[in-house]
Amino acid sequence: LASEGGSKLKMLISYVDNLPTGYIFFDFSFRHMRSNWTRIVFAYAYVMKLICSLIDEKGLFYALDLGGTNFRVLRVQLGGKDGGLVNQEFTEVSIPPNLMIGTSDALFDYIAAELAKFISQEGQEFELPPGKQRELGFTFSFPVMQTSIASGTLVRWTKGFSIDDAVGLDVVAELTKAMKRQGLDMRVSALVNDTVGTLAGGKYSYKDVAVAVILGTGSNAAYVESAQAIPKWHGDLPKSGEMVINMEWGNFRSSHLPLTEYDHAMDNESLNPGEQIFEKLISGMYLGEIVRRVLLKMAEEAAFFGDIVPPKLKTPFILRTPDMSAMHHDTSSDLILVEKKMKDILEETYFVLYIEKGPRYPICNTSLQTRKVVVELCNIVATRGSRLAAAGILGILKKIGRDTVKDGDEQKTVIAMDGGLFEHYGEYSKCLENTVTELLGEEVSKTISIEHASDGSGLGAALLAASHSPYLEAEN
Ligand code: BG6
Ligand code: GLC
Repeated sequence: LASEGGSKLKMLISYVDNLPTGYIFFDFSFRHMRSNWTRIVFAYAYVMKLICSLIDEKGLFYALDLGGTNFRVLRVQLGGKDGGLVNQEFTEVSIPPNLMIGTSDALFDYIAAELAKFISQEGQEFELPPGKQRELGFTFSFPVMQTSIASGTLVRWTKGFSIDDAVGLDVVAELTKAMKRQGLDMRVSALVNDTVGTLAGGKYSYKDVAVAVILGTGSNAAYVESAQAIPKWHGDLPKSGEMVINMEWGNFRSSHLPLTEYDHAMDNESLNPGEQIFEKLISGMYLGEIVRRVLLKMAEEAAFFGDIVPPKLKTPFILRTPDMSAMHHDTSSDLILVEKKMKDILEETYFVLYIEKGPRYPICNTSLQTRKVVVELCNIVATRGSRLAAAGILGILKKIGRDTVKDGDEQKTVIAMDGGLFEHYGEYSKCLENTVTELLGEEVSKTISIEHASDGSGLGAALLAASHSPYLEAEN
């Protein structure tokens, strides 16, 4: 929190010092409250809050979400104090791989064009009065050194992106120029990391959200910090006294964190060697690739797939984490799914070899014993990743003093979680939750809950755009 940029954990200042108020859901259980009187007082306060529908954010806002598996454009309608209902619509496309390693202009032109297409398809009811600009929250899921809530320079690319000429540029300025080239009259009111967006989106539904974690293609966390605890914050003390920190935990590494030869090899051959080491151990982009590397070594050194080493297995990233997850979850007694997946991954090779070398090379059939080993390997790699992610969560809870319960303390902590890995890899998320409980102990665990804030970051970006809208400020 002191280092201006040199640390492994960047601990980036988000300029979000006030999370959206949102619609606080009525918690009928009140089970964490100890006396009946406390329950009655809180129930009354909740009912009053419901009656007042304390939603400060209102209006029509857009959001762009770049950095996960897919790129998304969203339109969000916020009802404010009178309405209260949120209506979201979105479109989703994947970024063409050549744009992920191309030029800054090409990438921003592409996303601005998708935004223009989305807007051109909307009905008249979304037209704005003349002179009023459409407003946008921009979720940009890469490390950015923010200079305000709506500006910031790209520190570096992560995950599969590598566009040299964009590093050091203000991504909002680049997007704004691209929108102009598309003839779009829009302004970016908030620039947020996906973790910060998820924190804001999560807070809209769960009032006790203090931490957000993304476990998807990449991994990262954000949390609410006391502004006074941030030596590198030189601005005025925010009214809330708080500031959201984007940790960029994916770049964590330590001599206490053992790496295997597979981790080293994968890192050396990656687009960003020496960087994002924690991310390379725990996130969806890399888990399947680690499994592939181990299988390849077993094929080469222990004839795991028979006499030949399937050449296709030498292709980086051919075994994706969703394949790994499907194999890991195979409950059939014969592990039929594992067999199918292994065939998908290996078979073209055998077919090619069959054509080239004749019927001596059969179609790939794995034995049950082989398939059991594959499942065990998936289990080992996923368990390591999820337990490390849980350790990261414990680190944050310790930092904010939520890893213990003091007598009479009824404070709950919600961790808003999102990302395809957490959502779709059940064994991974189960192990993560069990490990958090194991690390905290039963009593403290009761005060902590992990909630899936599905697609929260797009909504969060729109909410933050709303709360930083100059129109809204003018109205207030
Ligand atoms: C989405 C968020 O739900 O999860 C994105 O809205 C985020 O902002 C993404 O980047 C991460 O998931 P994945 O699995 O697509 O990388
Ligand atoms: C990468 C990015 C980070 C993002 C995370 C999850 O680690 O650097 O900004 O939050 O992926 O998408």
